[in-house]
Amino acid sequence: MAQHRVVLLPGDGIGPEITAVARKLLEVVSQRHGFELIFEEHPIGGSAIDATGEPLPASTLEACRAADAVLLAAIGSPRFDSLPRDKRPETGLLGLRSGMELFANLRPVKIVPALIGASSLRQEVIEGVDLMVVRELTGGIYFGQPKGRIQADGEERGFNTMTYSSREVDRIAKVAFDLARDRRGNLCSVDKANVLDVSQLWRDRVDAMAPFYSDVEVSHMYVDNAAMQLLLAPRQFDVLLTGNLFGDILSDEAAMLTGSIGMLPSASLGSDGPGLFEPVHGSAPGISGQDKANPIAMVLSAAMMLRTGLKLNQAADDLEAAVDKVLAAGFRTGDLMAEGCSLLGCQAMGEALLRAL
Ligand code: IPM
Ligand code: MG
Repeated sequence: MAQHRVVLLPGDGIGPEITAVARKLLEVVSQRHGFELIFEEHPIGGSAIDATGEPLPASTLEACRAADAVLLAAIGSPRFDSLPRDKRPETGLLGLRSGMELFANLRPVKIVPALIGASSLRQEVIEGVDLMVVRELTGGIYFGQPKGRIQADGEERGFNTMTYSSREVDRIAKVAFDLARDRRGNLCSVDKANVLDVSQLWRDRVDAMAPFYSDVEVSHMYVDNAAMQLLLAPRQFDVLLTGNLFGDILSDEAAMLTGSIGMLPSASLGSDGPGLFEPVHGSAPGISGQDKANPIAMVLSAAMMLRTGLKLNQAADDLEAAVDKVLAAGFRTGDLMAEGCSLLGCQAMGEALLRAL
């Protein structure tokens, strides 16, 4: 029987609750499709700080690098906001992304028909939306040097550096072009080239690649306009390619087209080696431990892990079909609740998904 080593990183807040749901479902589909998943759990983020003093223990990074795939729930807790930056949960996640060289973050946004009423936007605006945010994940202003805080001229100054090399732009652009070619052949690259030199380089490199993809239609958009267009006419987008910071912001905005950020999975990939699969949402400390979390983004991340990371397409289809079925039957967690639907907690949603499987 084929075996796949999966590292689970439950992390903080609602992380452990949604991880438990995903793990049970993964066990069921693996038995059904005749493969074995060997799970290993490791600490990251705030739970790792509590256990070891570090947000990313070396043993966690090592285990992730050696795995076939990594499934992360969420990190972060306001308890650590006053720690120095290198000791905060977020630093653990950024260290994992860069330590595994996961430069390509894919965030699909697709409207689920059963949830069309859950969006704050009108039905006719969001109907049929099916887009993919391709976010550069290991460069840009998140990692650029120099950065820090200094005393200068009698006051304090904080600074970061937004920087991309041509190699960094090329490798993420190639991911986006390849995806666009397999989707609807439409690529929109988002930057701020009217102001930033780093964006002009980005735009020039995307343009230089375009002739190699004559089947892909390329356009460029300034990030402020892209933020507006996502609300005005989101159906115009197929693949949205952008840098680390703009992608962080636009992917949260795009998530809300679906009604809840509790629905969206993501994949972070490198050139080779294991991928990291995680929901777009955070650790939701306000509802953690109360059995209120929506496990669906985590379950869909598990499906993405099966399909993209482990090439187990049928098992991935089963998980996604279970999610559709449960939503079509009117089951909802609090974030998606609507009139006439049945409200479920995280565990009960997990059980409904198991029955649907
Ligand atoms: C995300 C998150 C992270 C990011 C945080 C938690 C560091 O917002 O994955 O979008 O900014 O990348
Ligand atoms: Mg974010």
